[in-house]
Amino acid sequence: MAQVGQPISRLEGRLKVTGAAKYAGEYNLEGLLYGYVVNSTIVRGKILEIDTASIKKIPGVVEVFTHQNRPSLAWFDLQYADMDAPPGSPFRPLHDAQVKYYAQPIALVVAETFETARFAASRLRVTYAEEEFDSDLKKNIEKARAPKRGLATMIKPLPPKPKGDFEKAFSEADIQVSSAYWHGTEHHNPMEMHTTTTLYERGGKLTIFDKTQGTVNSQLYACNVFGLSFGDVRVVSPYVGGAFGSGLRPQYQLFMSVMAAIELKRSVRVTLDREQMFSFGHRPPTLQRVRLGADSNGKVTALNHTAIAETSQFEDYTEVVVNWSHVLYPAENTLLEYQLVPLDVYSPLDMRAPGGSTGLHAIESAMDELSYKLGIDPLELRLINYAERDMAEDKPFSSKELRECYRQGAEKFGWSARKPEPRSMKRGNKLVGYGMATGIWDAMTVPSRAEAELTKEGKIRVNSAVSDIGTGTLTVMTQIAADEFGLSVEDVTFDYGDSDMALAPLEGGSFTVSSVGSAVAKVCQSLREKLVKWAARMENFKISGENQARVRFEKDRIVLSDSPMIAVTFADLIAENGGKVIQTSTTSIPNVFKLKKYTRAAHAAAFVEVEVDEQLGVVNVTRALTAVAAGKIINPKTARSQIVGAMVWGISKALREETISDHRFGNYMNPNLAEYHLPVHADIHELDCIFVEEHDDIVNPLGAKGIGEIGIVGMAPAITNAIFHATGKRVNHLPIHFDELM
Ligand code: MOS
Repeated sequence: MAQVGQPISRLEGRLKVTGAAKYAGEYNLEGLLYGYVVNSTIVRGKILEIDTASIKKIPGVVEVFTHQNRPSLAWFDLQYADMDAPPGSPFRPLHDAQVKYYAQPIALVVAETFETARFAASRLRVTYAEEEFDSDLKKNIEKARAPKRGLATMIKPLPPKPKGDFEKAFSEADIQVSSAYWHGTEHHNPMEMHTTTTLYERGGKLTIFDKTQGTVNSQLYACNVFGLSFGDVRVVSPYVGGAFGSGLRPQYQLFMSVMAAIELKRSVRVTLDREQMFSFGHRPPTLQRVRLGADSNGKVTALNHTAIAETSQFEDYTEVVVNWSHVLYPAENTLLEYQLVPLDVYSPLDMRAPGGSTGLHAIESAMDELSYKLGIDPLELRLINYAERDMAEDKPFSSKELRECYRQGAEKFGWSARKPEPRSMKRGNKLVGYGMATGIWDAMTVPSRAEAELTKEGKIRVNSAVSDIGTGTLTVMTQIAADEFGLSVEDVTFDYGDSDMALAPLEGGSFTVSSVGSAVAKVCQSLREKLVKWAARMENFKISGENQARVRFEKDRIVLSDSPMIAVTFADLIAENGGKVIQTSTTSIPNVFKLKKYTRAAHAAAFVEVEVDEQLGVVNVTRALTAVAAGKIINPKTARSQIVGAMVWGISKALREETISDHRFGNYMNPNLAEYHLPVHADIHELDCIFVEEHDDIVNPLGAKGIGEIGIVGMAPAITNAIFHATGKRVNHLPIHFDELM
């Protein structure tokens, strides 16, 4: 039975729930030292003095590293630029006395125990010369400018040029919508803290257990920054307790742990705490404006989507916020704009569906508003403006079953029971609202390698350096590999999360299945052919080496399809090879010339029911359904988890999650999970997800588009639209606070 398409439970599930799976902070090495990072308490200025001497006297403290005693490090920006670095000058921990943002890491205290390091860190006295700073996006909108271009803007394209004459078409349109939207700051808060444990081996070899979305990226960074050779640095990251983008770039705990290990010639672990999760990277606050002009039949003729986002003073972090609007809605006259305002904050960082979840909030809310002005059902309005072709790029879609998402989603949700008027549906003393929104996310593919071998023990093992950030990568790669041999998942092993393995991209952008999966499939085809060729040479198994179709694989052997009694065992093959492994490796490179002729995207339609208690302002998302078209679904169980998990986050974005800044102090006021609100069980009710059948033989050989991000993009606007339907109140910022609905 084909393994792809089966709802197989996570292969590492048991290890995780029993605590047997070791995370980066759980390697208890001999003689391990513990580092605790000290962060600046000013936003901008200069460190005048750090009194390390007095805390070094504390028993158990081994060393205190600052910019004054750090080792000599790489000089060029390029050496600090990791695989996800935006254009600019990457931040260098402990570089000099300059402080550029609040909670910048300025010292590392290393001690015999974690508690000692933390205690000593709390006693470190630092004197600063403070300078003026500005962290307020809303106050600095006039400083908005175009982003710098770089490698990152190749994957995250800037908006296309305007088409037609937007202003004219807008002013002449029968119906107009013009609204502003605010998306606040959010911080990544995976369950697992960012930790790096560096094992220092005699001779200076390092094995680094890192919480990362890219073992190769961390290896590259450590080697470049500390001038180490690739052969001496191995990064291992078998389990990751969530990351959502926070592990795309090497974070400062990696730098600190490696630096201390090299300097002290000891193994060192550096763990960031929850508050420190708010000291690097965030979803940037973004101000948007959408203007839509439509004719009285609902056809959008004029489309303007403008976004202005925050970045740091040293890097131009960009994301795709506005481009989606025109891919979804084919207006003749468009004006899409995206600008940045550099502020005294750390560089923003990709967070699940970066840009998409921000931009779709605005466009899907504006479309909803338009539907009421027209008196057309919101779903019907999407169908009136359905893009059969991507008019932004003037390309066909490689596949697009969004219409089916709308149809099947609406049917299963029961959209037809919706009464069009706001405030027209009630349940007891609560107002009931139905809302919907569209989701879209790129289906990208990047080059990737994989290796496969028949081991001396006669086992099939496949490997890639890729991480599994909790999405189910291990399981789906094993399924893909198993199918190439016609075996079951028990008969093949996928090894991953180790920079010594075959080169892999970052696990992000929803491109892992597409990229690494394609490499895994390809390398398994190659190993299969190789094994059959070996078998064909053997005395008792006379087939032509080219006649691959005449054999099939069973658990530990290759048999002739029409006479299965005739077999060569894997052990025979290894013996024939003189007891050595039979190995092969391959690189899977997407055919960009073919791919660039198409727009490749996953689509979704989110439907939400809310109950609003106007006396208390309380909103309950009583049920929600997302219909997803993302090509071939490799594992419906792990895929469903991705979508449902993303929907939970959507509820969080709409109603809970918010980093609150105090611009007088340039800092974040709620860096903890008591005040940074996340939904709990009581907030989550019926969540459902359906996968619409979608065939795509263009995106990649697997036909799978990736589902890590598509589930979040439409959720928040579907909720805010449902709230409008329930209450008649349109709140255009996230999250919605209950006092706004009372
Ligand atoms: Mo995702 S934000 O690419 O980890």
